[in-house]
Amino acid sequence: AIKRRSDYQSPAYVIQHVELDIDLYPHETRVICTTQVERKSADQQPLVLDGVDLQLLSVRVNGADWTNYVEKEQTLVVDGLPDAFTLTIETQIDPANNSSLEGLYKSGDAYCTQCEAEGFRKITYFLDRPDIMAEYRVTVRGNKSAYPYLLSNGNVVAKGELDDGRHFVTWHDPFPKPCYLFALVAGDFDLLSDNFVTASGREVALELYVDKGKRERGYHALDSLKRAMAWDEQTFGLEYDLDIYMIVAVDFFNMGAMENKGLNVFNSKYVLADGQSATDDDYFHIESVIAHEYFHNWTGNRVTCRDWFQLSLKEGLTVFRDQQFSADMASPLVNRINQVNVMREHQFAEDAGPMSHPIRPDVVMEMNNFYTVTVYDKGAEVIRMLHTLLGVQGFRRGMDLYFERHDGQAVTCDDFVQAMQDANQHDLTLFKRWYSQSGTPVVRASGEYDQQARQFKLTLTQHTPATADQAEKQPLMIPVNTELLGNQGTMVQTVLSLTQAQQTFVFDNIDQAPVMSLLGNFSAPVRLYDGQNSSARQHIVMYANDPFSRWDAMQTLYGDYLHCQAGSAGEFAEPISTAGIVELQRSLLNQAMDSPALVAEMLCLPSFETLVQQAEQIDVDALFDARNALLNQLAEALEQDMLAVVQQLPAQAYDYQQNQVEQRRLRNVLWLYLGRLDQHQAALKSHYHDADNMTDCLGALRAAQEGNEQTFDQLMVAFEQRWQDDPLVLDKWFGLHASAPRKDCLSRLDLLSGHKQFSLNNPNRVRALLGSFAFYNPKGFHAKDGSGYRYLTDYLKRIDPINPQVAARLVTPLTQFRHLDSERKSLIETQLHRLLDTPNLSGDVFEKVSKALGIQ
Ligand code: ARG
Ligand code: ZN
Repeated sequence: AIKRRSDYQSPAYVIQHVELDIDLYPHETRVICTTQVERKSADQQPLVLDGVDLQLLSVRVNGADWTNYVEKEQTLVVDGLPDAFTLTIETQIDPANNSSLEGLYKSGDAYCTQCEAEGFRKITYFLDRPDIMAEYRVTVRGNKSAYPYLLSNGNVVAKGELDDGRHFVTWHDPFPKPCYLFALVAGDFDLLSDNFVTASGREVALELYVDKGKRERGYHALDSLKRAMAWDEQTFGLEYDLDIYMIVAVDFFNMGAMENKGLNVFNSKYVLADGQSATDDDYFHIESVIAHEYFHNWTGNRVTCRDWFQLSLKEGLTVFRDQQFSADMASPLVNRINQVNVMREHQFAEDAGPMSHPIRPDVVMEMNNFYTVTVYDKGAEVIRMLHTLLGVQGFRRGMDLYFERHDGQAVTCDDFVQAMQDANQHDLTLFKRWYSQSGTPVVRASGEYDQQARQFKLTLTQHTPATADQAEKQPLMIPVNTELLGNQGTMVQTVLSLTQAQQTFVFDNIDQAPVMSLLGNFSAPVRLYDGQNSSARQHIVMYANDPFSRWDAMQTLYGDYLHCQAGSAGEFAEPISTAGIVELQRSLLNQAMDSPALVAEMLCLPSFETLVQQAEQIDVDALFDARNALLNQLAEALEQDMLAVVQQLPAQAYDYQQNQVEQRRLRNVLWLYLGRLDQHQAALKSHYHDADNMTDCLGALRAAQEGNEQTFDQLMVAFEQRWQDDPLVLDKWFGLHASAPRKDCLSRLDLLSGHKQFSLNNPNRVRALLGSFAFYNPKGFHAKDGSGYRYLTDYLKRIDPINPQVAARLVTPLTQFRHLDSERKSLIETQLHRLLDTPNLSGDVFEKVSKALGIQ
């Protein structure tokens, strides 16, 4: 069913107290939910509770059996009720058969829950909406030897023994919360304990629960948590509020992690790390996800969303907060580059496709489909623009006012912007349009220099092309970081505010025609066309103040070059020569030891996926081949320069520490080139075998994957032997196989899906294998005969009945076909129709497929 943001109505009934009694059995878990309900509406409308896949056992009102109810269409409609009453509902559920990983389910030997967005209704009949905030008291019962830990939100208030080897624990969470923040975990774990003393001197117990035997891999996560807690105190004055903070790592999880009050549940991928088994990127992501979920305690839990259309209220803001934290912990520049790559690869693609939506969507069929790169990452970009506009202190004032006004409430994105506005007396009326308008704005720049008047006029225009969801677009408030460069370096550095369709900005006292370096640090989530030629671009690469702009100019040079080589349709500048790129890289290599992080990023070509988003239409094979050819040419031309850098990089025992991370990154980027040369295969194998850490092992494997089939096959065999019993690590191996551009790629996928560690029920495995294929194997997925599309579709038909959320994420590459040729488009359409014709197709997949086919 379609839900609209404009249809919001305040609840007819509210629940302020919940008592849950959960008796755990694999197939017959009993749930008794006792609530204090109050009618808020003036009329006598019935109470409509949400519930999915529940077996109803009894309904009582004020302790007496109640029969005036009906179960229909995933609701329980209770009628004839008094104004205020105690409602007791008993249901039975089957966690062991719950493969959707939503509600209460088994993850391996443990029970756990995932309730956001609308999973609580799979546990009991309830008012499953975030503006119903209640205090919870939860009793969990289970077998004591199998489930020594029985966890829920808040503090333990009672525990004891029961008959038949069972025991119970009762938890109380004093902070009212929406039901999507409820959590329960039962199992046997290794426990890592620590503590944190808050700024005001309160002691908080920190507990991290991981699979037995994985204790040593938990320390980085725990350290990350302490850093995040301290950072939020220092940066935003926000302290933790309960006496205990628990994190549980589970192997079966649909997303990254979940911020349940006082009891985060994490995909074990974002908890477990040691140098042997995890890469620097893994370490980075663990720290950032741990921080993200922690930061939700204020931005999400203490202040939550009124309705799910407001999701970016908590997600955009919390992503921005975790980004700021990561920038403070490590390299701000590399962080920013990675964030911008996510926007250009994935968010631009989403906005250009059938699922385009504003960061605050207006229409939703399945809420789980809106945990998107638009709501999260573009949402964070919008918050970042506010931060740019108001400054560090102004932003902080806004945050303070937001908490002062809304602590303990369920609110809207408008409430957030209003607090920012009022705290700074800064009119944000126009700015708010970012919340309601979808699509990627196109900004064009042109300059006019007047030697006589020593004046430079910069004209900016903006236009947002129509998107699938919105035909009409209006101008937005776009901050444009602007640097004007002369022969002697930077003449002007400022932020321009573009608010109209066209505006001209005048700069006086400019002594020479400048080169324009615009949108520094990606100051707004837009596409920029500045009409400058490749020699202006080279000038930026060499001389811009802003290192981000140097990287970005290099990316544009690569992009224009590759699209021209590949004959893509679109707007590209006259390209630089191959020799020109070689010389630019040579000069970068000369600076490599001084700024390894920047140089490493500047040596990287745009990903294939980013390139696709830059063109109107591409020829998949030509673009892939052009990229590959340039990489080979660069490797051949710069072999000696690259070797010289590799040899200068020091060997050192692994530590996740900034200097080392940057040097490893540079070394592995260089191997991506050198690994293409026959004469360096022995050295590449040594790079793999001599490594004392996963970052270099994986770096060698990636280099071999692109560079040499034989080396790749040999190293992959070695890797599998080493890690065959560790599925989380083996995911890297599944991913490398699935994204390798091999002719026999589908039969390899068949073999891999028969691997003893592969399981269609585990989202990490499915994403590693099929996700890597569909998102990151353009040659295989877009094979001209349509075999890749058919292959994915066959799997989607099998995965959807198991886990609709996973299937719906995996269908994305089949829905973003705008840049492809008409033959491929029609091959894709055939497969989308096959999906649509699947009996019992989930609403999740239906929403995306029907939009892609334009029938909804
Ligand atoms: N709130 C979680 C986070 O971003 C994400 C949970 C989303 N779950 C889902 N089933 N869509 O931290
Ligand atoms: Zn989040």
